[in-house]
Amino acid sequence: MSSLLKGIHHITHCPGPAQADVDFLTQVLGQRLVKQTVLMDGRIPIYHFYYGNGDAEAGSIETSFPYSRRPGRPGTGQVSVVSYSVPRGTAPFWREHFDRHGAEHNGIEERFATPFVRVRHPAGMYFEVVEADDHRRPWATKEVGADVAARGFFAAVMSVRSVDEQERFLVDALGFRKVGVDGPYHRFEIPGGGPGSVIDLHHEPARPPGSWTFGAGTFHHIAFTVENDDALVTQKAFYEELGYTDASELKDRFYFHSMYVRSPGGILVECTANAPGGFYLDETPEELGTKLNLPPWYEAQRADIVAMLEPVIVPDVNRPRYVTVATRPAAVPPATTASGIPLSRTKAEFATSRN
Ligand SMILES: [Fe+2]
Repeated sequence: MSSLLKGIHHITHCPGPAQADVDFLTQVLGQRLVKQTVLMDGRIPIYHFYYGNGDAEAGSIETSFPYSRRPGRPGTGQVSVVSYSVPRGTAPFWREHFDRHGAEHNGIEERFATPFVRVRHPAGMYFEVVEADDHRRPWATKEVGADVAARGFFAAVMSVRSVDEQERFLVDALGFRKVGVDGPYHRFEIPGGGPGSVIDLHHEPARPPGSWTFGAGTFHHIAFTVENDDALVTQKAFYEELGYTDASELKDRFYFHSMYVRSPGGILVECTANAPGGFYLDETPEELGTKLNLPPWYEAQRADIVAMLEPVIVPDVNRPRYVTVATRPAAVPPATTASGIPLSRTKAEFATSRN
């Protein structure tokens, strides 16, 4: 089958404290803080941070819910590693860069004959930099220059106890094709997909299943780009035709619209269509990531939300250059797609304390 998917859109993890996550993603992985907003489900305000490449492109967006309230349990049935592509020959730079930050890593390894360095986030999740040809525009920092910086996602690794059912899901429901096996790793690609179109299934038959809830130290889900809202509806119907009948309704995430399904290996899989304007709905390209943005239907609760969030220091490279950026209220978009498909929104009705 041909795939409705264009590649990975974003991947979401749950760290512990917010500032440690900001510091690791921006300083150690050299990513741009693209957006500060909040989780749009539940009664407790939790940050939602987005990090990306120089152009804040889909396919480079790692997002996080800093969730110190509850530990997660890493295991099978989860994304286990997020891979960024970096220029060829730069693995030694990254090994030394991780050393300078005291970040735990395994040195330079190879998978599918390609060098990579895997590094541990302070909350326990793993990221890696993989040498690959990729011409997207990186975000450069003082320590990680444009000649070595990550271009965006290369792949995601999913840990599974059994390969077969997850392989059928990737191939039959998402349109991936299998391209190789290297030891316990089974590689899949979206035919004709853009950068970030690779999934490696890591076969770990003896590893216990990980948690599915929001919990510190785990990846929560992975999202793939589809063209538009109609493609979300088509993909949902396709899941149902194949028997994956627990596909969610279409949810309004303000910057994009989302539909979720639990894949047979346990990993939560989202399909995502960008809303018109995307990340620039409430910030200019220069302002991205400099302040807390709320979806317009949360604005009335801003004071309560802010009071319950831990303060974070925005990295120097994301600070506005001239003056403090004023909050620019965004317009409330209709709760339907352009073609009239209803979107679900969670109201901002928060508990009054974090306990
Ligand atoms: Fe998501």
